[in-house]
Amino acid sequence: MGRNTQTYLVGGVSAIGGFLFGYDTGVISSVLEMDYWKTYFHNPGSVGVGVIVSLLTAGCFVGSLCAGWIADRFSRKRAIMAACVVFCLGAAIQCGARNRAMLIVGRFIAGLGVGVLSMSVPVFQSEIAPPHIRGRLVSLQQWAITWGILVAFWIDYGCHFIKSDASWRIPIGIQIVPAIILFVSMIFMPYSPRWLVDNDRIDEAQEVLARLRSGGDLNAPEVTEELDEIREAVRIDRETAVRSYTDLLRVPIRRRVVLGVLIQALQQLTGINVSMYFATSIFKQSGLSGNNAPLLAQGVNGVVNMLATIPAILWIDRWGRRKTLMLGSLGCAITYFVQAVATGATQHKTYDADGSLNLNIPHGPSYLIIVMMYLFVASFAMSWGPIGWIYPSEIFPMRIRSKANSITTAANWLFNFVIGLVSPILIKKITWGLDLIFAIIMFSSIAIIYLFYPETKNRSLEDMEVIFTGSIWAHKDRKRIADYDNANRGREDAKMTNDF
Ligand code: BGC
Repeated sequence: MGRNTQTYLVGGVSAIGGFLFGYDTGVISSVLEMDYWKTYFHNPGSVGVGVIVSLLTAGCFVGSLCAGWIADRFSRKRAIMAACVVFCLGAAIQCGARNRAMLIVGRFIAGLGVGVLSMSVPVFQSEIAPPHIRGRLVSLQQWAITWGILVAFWIDYGCHFIKSDASWRIPIGIQIVPAIILFVSMIFMPYSPRWLVDNDRIDEAQEVLARLRSGGDLNAPEVTEELDEIREAVRIDRETAVRSYTDLLRVPIRRRVVLGVLIQALQQLTGINVSMYFATSIFKQSGLSGNNAPLLAQGVNGVVNMLATIPAILWIDRWGRRKTLMLGSLGCAITYFVQAVATGATQHKTYDADGSLNLNIPHGPSYLIIVMMYLFVASFAMSWGPIGWIYPSEIFPMRIRSKANSITTAANWLFNFVIGLVSPILIKKITWGLDLIFAIIMFSSIAIIYLFYPETKNRSLEDMEVIFTGSIWAHKDRKRIADYDNANRGREDAKMTNDF
């Protein structure tokens, strides 16, 4: 057994929370197109559909805000378990819905569960990981999200052939299965060692660290050293008494809150969910014809998303957060720019009788646009997808970590909600102009990362105090951090012997 097998196991199990996140956000888009669903709910108009779609995101927003308190008070582990119960309730109400109100309430409740999961899982993973594989471990939740979206799509696709209400009840109901699996498996998973120390359960923390790091040897040097480091960090945390929501607005935490909120907002401002939610209609607009072609092109989108996350899992802890984000932004910006030019130069707008827009783009440019969309999704999947979740989960001190992450996660859901609301309107109104807006945001994000985001790879969570107490200009603060590293060289080298 490898040295980190237990850590991967625990991180992998909790990543099922990401699967629920991805599945629940992905499942509804094709359900909305199903004939039996439309008939059962009396053909909801665009407002009705908007409410049904966005109530999940609203639930996620509220859930993530509550998660900070729950994960501190009852532990990260129990927060994940409680989220599973809430999620099952929401999914069951949706699956058995007899009217629109039930469906909407069910989506909101499931959203509460997803919101709690989206905050507690990365924090839990980050707290159990040794520094050199922390990025990889949190990337597992992102990978699980992409699997969730993918599986939801293909289950929808398979079920749309069923000629009864089961066609929509099955895809909605089936998500209860992974939620139960997660709940039951979490019973056997340990508490976060950092949460245990913060709650003065030192012996248990030592046992957990021994289980995760040394095959159960309580007195292994790596266990003792990490335990000492966590205890020291918690002691300092207590002295500085940073613990309430208002502390998030004060120095020294404020800078990190701004960076955490901004990175989550920018993750959504990549426009990823425009291609996750609306790619089918964009493919249709761009000239993919036939009933199934746009749908299948969307399925391929999901596969690209899942596959392109793999390099991040393997190498994010080598590439580092800064470089990966800047390269990802460059990829996203270029692909948006090419789409904008190809659409702008060749589109010829006409409208169908039902008001839907056709851009009548010739075959050549329309294939180019589709390829660019796949390359965009791949650029996102390797960079902003995982790091949007990794970075906030690793930069805060213990006592404030879960509260801070509940705010940064809520920012993600808020921007997700807004983009979901405005982008369908903009796609129709300004077509390629939306690509241009995203291209500009992505180009600008390169400068933002370069100037303000310090590198965090390979740092212990306790080291973050040093990283974030210097100049706010990340590119100017390298010398100070290098001096710190030189002073601690022996210790760091010992810790970084990683086993890829
Ligand atoms: C984002 C989601 C997005 C998904 C796509 C996640 O990191 O937060 O909004 O749908 O990635 O893979």
